[in-house]
Amino acid sequence: MERAGFCMRNRAMRGPVNVIAWSVTVACLLQGSGGALAEETVSSPDGRVCVTFGLREGAPFYEVSRDAETVVRPSLMGFVLRGAPPLVSGLEVGDVSRRSLDETWRPPWGKASVARNHYNELEVGLREAGAPGREIRLLFRAFDDGVAFRYVIPEQPELPAVEIVEEVTEFRFAGDHTVWWAPADYDSYEHLFRETPLSEVGAANTPVTMRTEGGLYLSVHEANLTDYAGMTLHWLEGDGNALRCDLVPWPDGVSVRGETPLVSPWRTIQIGETPGDLVSSHLILNLNEPCVLDDTSWITPMKYVGIWWSLHIGKETWHAGDAHGATTENAKRYIDFAAAHGIPGLLIEGWNTGWDRWGAEGAYDFVTSYPDFDLEEVVSYGRANGVSIIGHHETGGDVPTYERQLQAALDLYARVGVPAVKTGYAGGIYPRGQHHHGQWMVRHYRSVVEAAAERRIMLDVHEPIKPTGIERTYPNMMTREGVRGMEYNAWSDGNPPEHTTILPFTRMLAGPLDYTPGIFDLTFDEYKPRNRVHTTLAKQLALYVVLESPLQMAADLPENYEGHPAFEFIERVPVTWDETSVPDAAIGDYAVFARRAAANWYIGAVTDEEPRVLRLPLQFLEGGRPYVLRFYMDGPDADWESTPLSFETGSAIVDQATWLTMPLAAGGGFAAELRPASDDEAEQLPDYEPPF
Ligand code: NOJ
Ligand code: CA
Repeated sequence: MERAGFCMRNRAMRGPVNVIAWSVTVACLLQGSGGALAEETVSSPDGRVCVTFGLREGAPFYEVSRDAETVVRPSLMGFVLRGAPPLVSGLEVGDVSRRSLDETWRPPWGKASVARNHYNELEVGLREAGAPGREIRLLFRAFDDGVAFRYVIPEQPELPAVEIVEEVTEFRFAGDHTVWWAPADYDSYEHLFRETPLSEVGAANTPVTMRTEGGLYLSVHEANLTDYAGMTLHWLEGDGNALRCDLVPWPDGVSVRGETPLVSPWRTIQIGETPGDLVSSHLILNLNEPCVLDDTSWITPMKYVGIWWSLHIGKETWHAGDAHGATTENAKRYIDFAAAHGIPGLLIEGWNTGWDRWGAEGAYDFVTSYPDFDLEEVVSYGRANGVSIIGHHETGGDVPTYERQLQAALDLYARVGVPAVKTGYAGGIYPRGQHHHGQWMVRHYRSVVEAAAERRIMLDVHEPIKPTGIERTYPNMMTREGVRGMEYNAWSDGNPPEHTTILPFTRMLAGPLDYTPGIFDLTFDEYKPRNRVHTTLAKQLALYVVLESPLQMAADLPENYEGHPAFEFIERVPVTWDETSVPDAAIGDYAVFARRAAANWYIGAVTDEEPRVLRLPLQFLEGGRPYVLRFYMDGPDADWESTPLSFETGSAIVDQATWLTMPLAAGGGFAAELRPASDDEAEQLPDYEPPF
């Protein structure tokens, strides 16, 4: 199958605007003796995080500190426009206002049942000192767990509309931090992450996560990406410890076009003392608008199986023929399996015509089934068995064809009773020259979210725009890919063991990810002897706790689950949480997650290629009561390369004072459920003994 094409263009290739030279010149202003004409500071509710806005010789800048430590040195802000002078200098401060908010809100699903949105805000109006006197406004928010800022270009006679060529937002950090980053790519987030000094970051997609010399963890991303271009980060000429915004362009080199008022997404810098602080933060969601749906009762997080892995390993095909996967009969077989195991969803790919002409413009028909697939019959068989069908719209990047059919395609699913749709954009975007992460596609992705919400349909978007917290506003935007997921193990070198020790602290900070865990036949030699999954079996289970997705797949073939003792964990593990914590983690080495759903806790621990023994105090359990620990761990001889299937499971009684010992094999993991014990269980089950 053709993959989405890479387009890692950099600014030097982009056109005539000499932004770099301009930026270097203004940077000198910041370092020079020119005193600040105006400075305003806003600090977080706990007083520890400060953002300062200032103007030097008319050029706006911001800086960030936490306690006495500089987080961001003075960094420029502004815009380079097409057909108008830049909005980057010659400015003076107009009105300044401040406000605060402390609210709690309840997401219908997610990592925690309650989110607190607590910040102090500074709003600064700027006006050009000379003609034409254009205005721009800057908003800064200081939270205890980070900062955010955004631009507003107000409606004004001098600027009825704008074409932004460059957003001049810099991030000049305080040192040559250790950075976990994936390469900037205007069309794909399906990359492995690298760990390098900041000075070696060329251009990166966000989130970009770093550790300072002082031990702080920072992550740069954006929130509420609405009708704007996606932001990548590019190295900043002349400053080894800095990155600058590089927006994904339209084919003509303009990044963002629109009428005023025009509002940018929030530029965000999360700040924590541990990797886990970044995970528990609600900063990205908090910077989005509250839910606009009156009723969210139809939004139901769920696990799902799929006619999917069989397609990727070559057992079945998307297109019609002898090995066609999406037949009525096969779908019923999957429904029987799902119903027998309490899995509420079934994804069916390859049900509609067009797969024979993959990649061709106009190939897909989103309302016409292949002759051997009866959509209504499958949906009603599913309904009778308590299994919902997750529909599939693969566009192959042919967005105009999809847009022409979108309403009818969603109407069809709504009419027959398909409550969720997986969309896909695997391939270069039509019209050619548009990018997956540019403004044109940002608009498209949002229009699909809205059209789906109107019909009470949930979404799982593959080859998406990255998550920026829109699910607060549209909680039917459940999950998305935008990650180098499980499928890579089916047809490439695969994902190395460390991949899932980095994802929770980079990509997953942006929002849920449809990684599609749960492969038990890790080598699938029968189908593809040269490909395999690079983990142990226990690690596949751990991923259900580590990687968050309100639509969470049990990705393997039913025959590989049937009768397997480890499948019980997948049956039981929830997909939405009341509480999430990360008691222990070293990014790129290992991670331990503990998540609570009602009275039960779930533990997931993953390691990279290094075996290690982790110990976890169960102090988060409620005191004074016994719990049943059901654990699933690597066997003593487990190793992802040689003996990935070696695993052990067992039950024991633990309490708040217990220390859990988790032996992780190379490429291994550990998963457990902890639930309050009944009196009988407390009496009959053995007390927990560490394995050694
Ligand atoms: C790529 C998606 O990531 C994958 O899940 C899907 O099966 C194929 N495209 C076909 O739509
Ligand atoms: Ca993909």
